Amino acid sequence: MDMLRETDFDFLGPKTMGKVRDIYDQGDRLILITTDRHSSFDRIIAHIPWKGQVLNQTSAHWFELTRDIVPNHVLAVPDPNVTIARKCQMVPVEAVVRGYLTGVTDTAIWTRYGKGQRDFGGLKLPDTMRKNQKLPQPIFDPTTKEASHDRTLSPEAMIAEGFVSKDLFARIKDAALKLFARGQQVAASRGLLLVDTKYEFGTDKEGGLVLIDEIHTPDSSRYWQLDTYDKRFAAGEEPDYFDKEFLRLWFKEHSDPYADEELPQAPRELVEELSRRYIRMYEQITGKKFEPGETPILPRIERNLRSFAG
Ligand SMILES: Nc1ncnc2c1ncn2[C@@H]1O[C@H](COP(=O)(O)OP(=O)(O)OP(=O)(O)O)[C@@H](O)[C@H]1O
Ligand SMILES: [Mg+2]
Repeated sequence: MDMLRETDFDFLGPKTMGKVRDIYDQGDRLILITTDRHSSFDRIIAHIPWKGQVLNQTSAHWFELTRDIVPNHVLAVPDPNVTIARKCQMVPVEAVVRGYLTGVTDTAIWTRYGKGQRDFGGLKLPDTMRKNQKLPQPIFDPTTKEASHDRTLSPEAMIAEGFVSKDLFARIKDAALKLFARGQQVAASRGLLLVDTKYEFGTDKEGGLVLIDEIHTPDSSRYWQLDTYDKRFAAGEEPDYFDKEFLRLWFKEHSDPYADEELPQAPRELVEELSRRYIRMYEQITGKKFEPGETPILPRIERNLRSFAG
């Protein structure tokens, strides 16, 4: 099966690699190629067919649906896997918004609630809440974006430590909450709950706020099925969610993913199952049928990017 692992297009300019995207820097603009690389445990664990296209096209869909709220970085989408973006000065804050009391990692709101925290982004939660319950209103819960690891910091500390100015913080918060409200509203019309998400912002030369990176993708957001949520919540059951965890679990069982120099190859059935799930998510989120881009992928991208030489 054809997969997009990595690109090497000298004609586009200097390349850097994120975990998922290959990024070509052309001064004022970036060529963002979303590959099929799948990361977990801070490393690439597999390549998932069509995942890059799903992520790129899901973002493109949402950028279009939200550009009346805040300008975004998209200049063109000349290929299913590629976005030409305005290069911005990155704001070192991950603008996390949460709509439900959930999650199991250290930074998750349910974990912190379990440890006794009640104050979140200026909202004080009652003591009686249960896992996966809807929050009285969405919470802006940013973390810093740092090389080592992201931290949850109070707005005051973020401003004091120089991550953002007070004014920029206020603009990011306002934009993030409006984007999330739009996301929830549109998701509901597709039978989905937008549970939580993470936005990245940049600033342009005039200091204007710009939404960058990706928006409301299965990698940056959590979605639950709307139709079964109430019943399952009432019964104390986990919501129907988009499960990607099985691949991580396989690696945990078959390797030491934080330590091993080389990882085993994931079983083909699991990779294909995850691919099908990404495609299903794309179709439910956007309401569009997934049209696999022409293969082989690499020469197609090269062709579609010829007029964007750096
Ligand atoms: N318009 C833009 N201007 C500047 N930087 C951008 C823009 N859009 C996206 N980026 C950055 O490009 C990178 C996208 O690559 P990718 O998603 O693979 O990175 P990542 O592995 O998530 O990296 P990171 O840990 O930095 O988020 C991110 O670092 C993102 O912040
Ligand atoms: Mg990223």
